[in-house]
Amino acid sequence: MCGIVGYVGREQAAPILLEGLSRLEYRGYDSAGVAVCSAGEGRLEVAKAKGRLKILSDMLHGGADISGTTGIGHTRWATHGAPSDVNSHPQVSRSGRIAVVHNGIIENYAELKAFLKEQGIPFASETDTEVVAQLIEYFLETDKVGLLEAVGRVLRRIEGAYALGIVSADVPGQIIAVRKDSPLILGQGQDFHMLASDVTAIIQHTRDVIYLEDGELAVLTTEGIQCYSQLMVPIEKKVSHVDWEIDAAEKGGYEHFMFKEIMEQPDALRRAISPRIAEGQVVLEDFHLDEAYLKSLEKIYIVACGSSYHVGMVEKYIFERLLRIPVEVALASEFRYMEPIVTQRTLVVVISQSGETLDSMAALREAKRLGAKVLSVVNVVGSSIARESDQVLYTWAGPEIAVATTKGYSTQLAVLDLLALYLGRLLGTVSQETYDQGVAALEALPEQMERVLERREDIQYYASQYFNHNSVFFIGRNLDYAMGLEGSLKLKEISYIHSEAYASGELKHGTISLIEEGTLVIALGTCGRLFDKAMSNVAEVRSRGADVLALTTESRQEDMAHAASGVITIPDAAEIALPSLGVVPLQLFAYYVALMRGCDIDKPRNLAKSVTVE
Ligand code: M6R
Repeated sequence: MCGIVGYVGREQAAPILLEGLSRLEYRGYDSAGVAVCSAGEGRLEVAKAKGRLKILSDMLHGGADISGTTGIGHTRWATHGAPSDVNSHPQVSRSGRIAVVHNGIIENYAELKAFLKEQGIPFASETDTEVVAQLIEYFLETDKVGLLEAVGRVLRRIEGAYALGIVSADVPGQIIAVRKDSPLILGQGQDFHMLASDVTAIIQHTRDVIYLEDGELAVLTTEGIQCYSQLMVPIEKKVSHVDWEIDAAEKGGYEHFMFKEIMEQPDALRRAISPRIAEGQVVLEDFHLDEAYLKSLEKIYIVACGSSYHVGMVEKYIFERLLRIPVEVALASEFRYMEPIVTQRTLVVVISQSGETLDSMAALREAKRLGAKVLSVVNVVGSSIARESDQVLYTWAGPEIAVATTKGYSTQLAVLDLLALYLGRLLGTVSQETYDQGVAALEALPEQMERVLERREDIQYYASQYFNHNSVFFIGRNLDYAMGLEGSLKLKEISYIHSEAYASGELKHGTISLIEEGTLVIALGTCGRLFDKAMSNVAEVRSRGADVLALTTESRQEDMAHAASGVITIPDAAEIALPSLGVVPLQLFAYYVALMRGCDIDKPRNLAKSVTVE
């Protein structure tokens, strides 16, 4: 989704903005632009270009062609109006003296645009954002108010989701920042201040950040940041310190962020798991949901999108087995429209790597409105979902840059596995043996995952055999089915191969008609108690001509080798750890296939890292 960066200070702004935008490229975009104010001359220069940021950067000779020490920059992911130079941001007012960058959607833009047109104001673009720039100027001119007041008047009229950065040629040396339902953070430095959609864009300059709450507004100058409440009352905000290292957001010698992040998984798991296990017990230190409340739970709802939803699908099986409480998994984009049955005895678990996914955020608010408590599992510290939840468990995976999530997914699994064991013990629903096995399996997981990663050449070999296929089916039962959902998504999002995941038993109810000579079926059979069933399903598709690549545990390799064309193995482990181990070969398979097909792995077409529009 769109990325925003802003800088006000003593340095030339354009090179800083371009560098910041390059760190936001991973979010997904189709055009880029900057607007820079030069204090002395009261001049506002705007440069924008459709396509990769490099086009804009080359056009401006790395920023040298545009001078001024205050500026805003943007990478656009088109919503209103096709990707084009004119629809790119910053959008400017009629006079060209106000420039705006925006992430989100102004829902009532058509009505506002009609009003402004009636006043004789011409529009240059098809964007909803231009309305904001034009409306600010309209209030400046007709109401004769200052810039801050004009922005305040605009905020009272616009509806929807927005993070905005605003500059004016008439007030150089100042940026106004606003947010509602879209991410925006402020960075505090010595003699400079910044704003950005996420911390990766500013971490090279400062790690001291301010998180704006919904409806809040801030004025940034070289000297400081003044924040205001929704009612435009000046407020004090806490400054938080981000402890991510800049290296964590760089490729560090790897060809792709996705591969780097796959390889980082054992360490990410160590960070997520080790501090939460002590002397064979799960210890959730800052977990403060009341014991009586937890014991009163009648239902758990897991709500998320994409891969995080797939984590929910795995955890439904694990939670129900360990807790004997009904668990429903819902797509966040559906949740608020389905009249969910949520009461005060429902715990809603929101899973989100970014903590900014708009649908997940909306589901969280709906759950709270209905009286539930919300526990979120989030990677980005201080993100909106984390801040609005009653309880947050961080995954501590470090920054995830590749659009296709990998370490985000596996650390979410680990944290929820720990939670399931913790609650199972608290509720008395898990046996001592299962608990001990589960804890031991999670402790062993990072090291076992290293072994899976060491065997990556086997996966590379299978990728070379199958990368030309146009359609792939993933089949499995129970945890293997849930894991297949993620394997299938990984493959389609980065390699553009059509792929489906099916519960094996469901195949014969329709989909098996698609199996023909040479169809690739990836059969997942890691779950020991269902292994015989997995074998039967392999036989079923093979007898119809499918080429079967199977995934199972080391102890079952030989048996599976009789049935499948190829077998990939993971170490034997307690059931709770199998999806975490099993997903790694699937991530690697998707990665190598995409590599062999020449795809843009870290920035797959049409996709954005954090989906901040509905
Ligand atoms: O940041 P979130 O976990 O809320 O993101 C949810 C999905 O957009 C995300 O998991 C998406 O499906 C991944 N890019 C898939 O790899």
